[in-house]
Amino acid sequence: MAERPNHAHLWPDTARISRDGRLLIAGLDVAALAREYGTPLYLYDEDTLRGQMRAFRQAFASRWPQSAVAYAGKAYLSPALCALLMEEGLELDTVSAGEVGVALRAGFPPERIHLHGNMKPDAELASALDAGGSGVGRVVVDSLDELARLEALGRERGRAAPVWLRVNPDVRAQTHASIHTGHADSKFGLDLASGAVLEAARRAAASPWLDLAGLHAHAGSQLFDAAPAAQVVATLAGLAATIRDETGAAPRELSPGGGVGVAYTPEERPLDPGAYAGALCAMLREEAERLRLPPPRLIVEPGRAIVARAGVALYTTGPRKVTPHAVFVSVDGGMGDNPRPALYGARYHAALAGRMTAPATETVQVAGRYCESGDILVQAARLPEARPGEILAIPVSGAYHLPMASNYNLVPRPAVVFVREGRARLVRRRETLDDLIRLDAL
Ligand SMILES: Cc1ncc(COP(=O)(O)O)c(C=O)c1O
Repeated sequence: MAERPNHAHLWPDTARISRDGRLLIAGLDVAALAREYGTPLYLYDEDTLRGQMRAFRQAFASRWPQSAVAYAGKAYLSPALCALLMEEGLELDTVSAGEVGVALRAGFPPERIHLHGNMKPDAELASALDAGGSGVGRVVVDSLDELARLEALGRERGRAAPVWLRVNPDVRAQTHASIHTGHADSKFGLDLASGAVLEAARRAAASPWLDLAGLHAHAGSQLFDAAPAAQVVATLAGLAATIRDETGAAPRELSPGGGVGVAYTPEERPLDPGAYAGALCAMLREEAERLRLPPPRLIVEPGRAIVARAGVALYTTGPRKVTPHAVFVSVDGGMGDNPRPALYGARYHAALAGRMTAPATETVQVAGRYCESGDILVQAARLPEARPGEILAIPVSGAYHLPMASNYNLVPRPAVVFVREGRARLVRRRETLDDLIRLDAL
């Protein structure tokens, strides 16, 4: 039996080290796959994807039967992933007509899709209400203007638009400024203190063209502690009771969003789905009883925690440069396929896929290929001395890389391969020069 890699909690479930020190995923030699499909390459381990989907589904279903896991597609969405989400019984949280459209083309049932966003263009709102004939399951309303727009669209169609109200809960989660979204001055959601939420609830309750199905809030991303999300559940339950007292009907669904933290570096530890579900369900039980609410349906929206660790980014190393300040190992990808280090200062681990057991002898900066000095993928990677032409693997690359990827410097975006039980399948081919100019008039 091959061994697990060091820092196994950063790698896919099926990651192993062969006797000669090579990285295997789903039984396949990773460096050989990189050579076959070219680099940069994104590998996803299907067992890890399914394992995470099941872990969240079971953690909630066993504690709160009226629950659903709506995967946040912004973390990574493709037809191949949609197929797995459907098979594993997840719902889908989307933020654009593009995400809705990709899911529908993959056969995703429209009633299991929720549409979020602080600015949904009119055409996107209308197409969401028409998706698959009967429309998406829920539209998450972010402003009073949008509520009025939805009411008009509902009236035009002669049926009530099913809505959640997005509440700004004023929770300050301990995370990076650009990924915490639940604080009072955030652009997201209806303000609680000014009464905008209650105003929206009154208007929705009074309109035959709006169905106030639920309340939603999102405390922020990369949460390593379930407390802020549990606090959001308590806030939403309290609001549901206030709305019941004011309008006679309580919203029947509550969603504290997503944000479950994952480990990117050896020191970090992910938030366990069981601990997260335990905290949220206990809070909901307590508050629903205290406020005498009929048990609401609980919908959580993890994105990163489902896909991040399943994905590994593979690069070919280029020149190694020793300067008086640092050792740089350059790779053939960078901020074009993973902007997170440049955007958020995100930190990563790295390893040489063909020499996993060779002792690390130096600390290097893994330099991307893009013409920006900020394009450093890993600030301090501990590696053996890397020779040009080796395969460098960066784990925990499955979330918020490809969806944020660009063609900066006109570099084609990478291919994506799913692996399972000794088999690899190309689910997205690498872009070509033709793709780079296909939208241009020559
Ligand atoms: C409303 C909402 N739900 C879910 C998510 C997913 O967050 P994560 O990928 O951190 O779980 C986000 C992230 O921004 C969000 O804004």
